Amino acid sequence: MKTYHPDGTQNPTWWQTAVFYQIYPRSFQDSTGDGIGDLQGIINRLDYLVDLGINAVWISPIFPSPMADFGYDVSDYCDIHPMFGDLATFDRLLAEAHARSLKIILDFVPNHSSNQHPWFLESRSSRDNAKRDWYIWRDAKPDGSPPNNWISMFGGSAWTWDEKTQQYYLHSFLPEQPDLNWRNPDVVDAMHNALRFWLKRGVDGFRVDAILCLIKHEDFLDNPPVAPGSFWEAWGHQFEPRYTVNQPEMFEHVRLMRRVFDEFEERVHIGETSTEDVAGLIPYYGRPLDGYDIPFNFKLLHADWHAPTMRQIIEDYYDILPAGGWPNFVFGNHDIHRFATRYGYENHRSVAMLLLTLWGIPTLYYGDELGMEDVFIPVEQRVDPWGINMPEGDFGRDPERTPMQWDASPHAGFTSGEPWLPVADDYQQRNVASQLADEQSTLNFYKTLIQLRRSRPALHNGAFTFVDGLGDDLLAYLRAADGQRLLVCLNFSDQARPVDLSHLTSSAETLLSTHFTAHSGTTFTLQPHESVLLQLK
Ligand code: NOJ
Repeated sequence: MKTYHPDGTQNPTWWQTAVFYQIYPRSFQDSTGDGIGDLQGIINRLDYLVDLGINAVWISPIFPSPMADFGYDVSDYCDIHPMFGDLATFDRLLAEAHARSLKIILDFVPNHSSNQHPWFLESRSSRDNAKRDWYIWRDAKPDGSPPNNWISMFGGSAWTWDEKTQQYYLHSFLPEQPDLNWRNPDVVDAMHNALRFWLKRGVDGFRVDAILCLIKHEDFLDNPPVAPGSFWEAWGHQFEPRYTVNQPEMFEHVRLMRRVFDEFEERVHIGETSTEDVAGLIPYYGRPLDGYDIPFNFKLLHADWHAPTMRQIIEDYYDILPAGGWPNFVFGNHDIHRFATRYGYENHRSVAMLLLTLWGIPTLYYGDELGMEDVFIPVEQRVDPWGINMPEGDFGRDPERTPMQWDASPHAGFTSGEPWLPVADDYQQRNVASQLADEQSTLNFYKTLIQLRRSRPALHNGAFTFVDGLGDDLLAYLRAADGQRLLVCLNFSDQARPVDLSHLTSSAETLLSTHFTAHSGTTFTLQPHESVLLQLK
């Protein structure tokens, strides 16, 4: 049995022991009746977040934007979209959150701006404009076709022709999201200053979007075709993005951004990564630890719900973490179908059990604490450009972005108007109010689990040991600190499974079960899909 000892457990920083919670602001709480969530709505729900027990809220983009990609197309990095409120509302949100000991993390979108950003409007106004080189412009090939075969992450060529100035511009995502040229030092300065604008205001950190695309190869070489069965093929790509993602100079920019964070105290630097395996996460930590505090780890999120697979990924990750580097795990966000749907509803509490008891920072996605599932969106109501552009694949992200289900009133208490995406049909049964009233609800399961994680050091920074020999359907591990030993055991199968812990302990007490069962003794049976957290003697 191999044991991992978290480094620096004596004096962990706030984010090492925190539970993060992502809010997709359009869908959390509307306070104006326009059918779209806003900052005042979040303020109105802060007490809910405190009651849930989370420590830090990451809010997807709230900046001025034409909303071609629902905020990931920013037209002013230093203001708030009027749909969400204004700077004064934001300052109030920050103050109200801080008064409740909640941290606020914003989303920074450095790779691209909106095509309506004044910088791009200038850049496209003429070839000799001072901001021309703030974006990536290239001539057509002699036959008029794009400069190379690079494709957008959202499908189609990554190049769009500009009639007026007779050149193509590059966009790793939508044509409405032109890529900024990070090889231009003026762009770097302007973007670093945008970070400072918010850090000075008191935000506690940033999640940095799509960092992998930040720098492209200088020679603009064609990308090779994807290998059959490869990671990129699974993402619907025809070409492996060898010259468009994860370029060495990109890591240098991660370090430079990090230095901006370090001008302030106790800010957290989180990166949206995309790597084929956990080894790909390591360079994002920096050498030594001068990159991301939390390079988002999506590996479990893309794995099958299968005990040996999950164990292998966790073990591979722990094995190669750099000294002092802290692991993290994600199971859901606004870009992936909800895990209650992906893994089957019967497993959704076990996913939470895993996420909140592993050694590593957990990030929750709003509504997962209710067991929210994907909502089927009829074709005519679909709005996600990725899903609309790539209709042949399952790429639409609307199903996981539907309004939070607060209560049984019309539109689930999310809005008094027409919600921008439909509310789940089951909202009258599945909502915060009904689950608070039910002791054995998923919401109360989460609250207890988060409370246990917060109150037991073993769960956030205790030593971690896999328990071997319990069979392929079970995943079990020990967490230990301050003389306390906890054991987590997850049953991945749809059959009951006997568990024998007599080689580990003389007695075990159930702290929490996904099924709210109290097991006693050292041998017991886990129900199908049941997971338990036990205190060992
Ligand atoms: C990743 C974000 O999470 C996603 O929602 C967005 O569409 C792309 N980056 C482009 O910014």
